[in-house]
Amino acid sequence: MGRRYSDDPTDNDFFYIYRVFVSPRPTVGTESKLLAIDVMSTIPLTFQSTLRLSSGNDIPRFGFGVAFGFGKDEDVEAVSKPSALEALKVGYRHIDTAQKYRNEALVGEAIKESGVKREDIFITSKVPADFDGSTFTAVDDSLKAMGLDYLDLYLIHNPTEGTEDRLRMWKGLLEAKQVGKTRSVGVSNYNVHHLEEIKSAGLELPSINQIELHPLCQQRPIVDFCNANGIVVQAYCPIIQGHMDQPVITSMAKKHGRDPAHILLRWSLQRGFLPLIRSTNPARILSNTQIYDFELSGEEVADLSALDKGGEGAIAWNPINVL
Ligand SMILES: NC(=O)c1ccc[n+]([C@@H]2O[C@H](COP(=O)([O-])OP(=O)(O)OC[C@H]3O[C@@H](n4cnc5c(N)ncnc54)[C@H](OP(=O)(O)O)[C@@H]3O)[C@@H](O)[C@H]2O)c1
Repeated sequence: MGRRYSDDPTDNDFFYIYRVFVSPRPTVGTESKLLAIDVMSTIPLTFQSTLRLSSGNDIPRFGFGVAFGFGKDEDVEAVSKPSALEALKVGYRHIDTAQKYRNEALVGEAIKESGVKREDIFITSKVPADFDGSTFTAVDDSLKAMGLDYLDLYLIHNPTEGTEDRLRMWKGLLEAKQVGKTRSVGVSNYNVHHLEEIKSAGLELPSINQIELHPLCQQRPIVDFCNANGIVVQAYCPIIQGHMDQPVITSMAKKHGRDPAHILLRWSLQRGFLPLIRSTNPARILSNTQIYDFELSGEEVADLSALDKGGEGAIAWNPINVL
């Protein structure tokens, strides 16, 4: 009854997740134990591990997000470039920005100054749903701002403008991919009905859905749909924006002699998600990468998975419920 979930032979580092489907769905009292067999071994997972997307391109599993200044008093102009540079210096090769973050140009400068080859960095940007114009040209705007020839991934940031606009925007992105402006395309904050809409229109499905995802907010129906349809799930707010003072998390951190952030990042990776972490603090930018020399047990993964509060557990905007 087990099924290898990530069985692409090109999936680097022999990173396998075994998933056992439990039917009927576990009741509350048994959830913890049953989920212990939900996700299993990760052998060995490294900072360089990648995953092959439906587009045929590889994405590093761990990414650095640069959404500074949201809900936090940060000077985006001042922190964006040094943080991105520091991230590249310590080895991150996956940067997540967006037009809304107002730092595409600064990230572009950091990439150039880092000395890391363009082809060795996976770069994502996003167009907001209320963008005034076609998504085909939105990609040009991002490329120009960043001083790049192509993006690795371009996302529709949010699903908030209704079916007609969503499909129009999605078709624009598919065209942008077709002509090589971006290698892969995807969406963000899309719920199942938004993804179904693309499927019903007979259009190619996104390679990625980027959603808020951590133990308190696990978006299970969306994750199940994505898993069943070859859509990779990127996890934003993987460390709950630093609000990690849950006894299950802190006691596990103590037991492993680790930061709570390490526990949450391991949970995300071991569940097969692609976490995007943000920090302006050089010590944390480095420390957040030091997660490959320990592993959570299946039971620990289950204990964290049992913290799910659904939508109530969201810490960011999480606009998945719009029609
Ligand atoms: N698509 C979307 O709608 C969407 C929405 C939100 C986020 N995102 C993406 O996901 C990325 C990450 O999400 P996020 O920034 O909201 O949340 P997050 O990464 O869960 O949390 C970032 C916060 O945690 C702090 N932090 C970092 N490392 C820490 C550590 N080891 N211990 C304690 N605190 C630590 C940071 O402060 P310091 O700077 O002081 O370290 C920052 O305040 C964003 O940058 C963005 O790329 C996408």
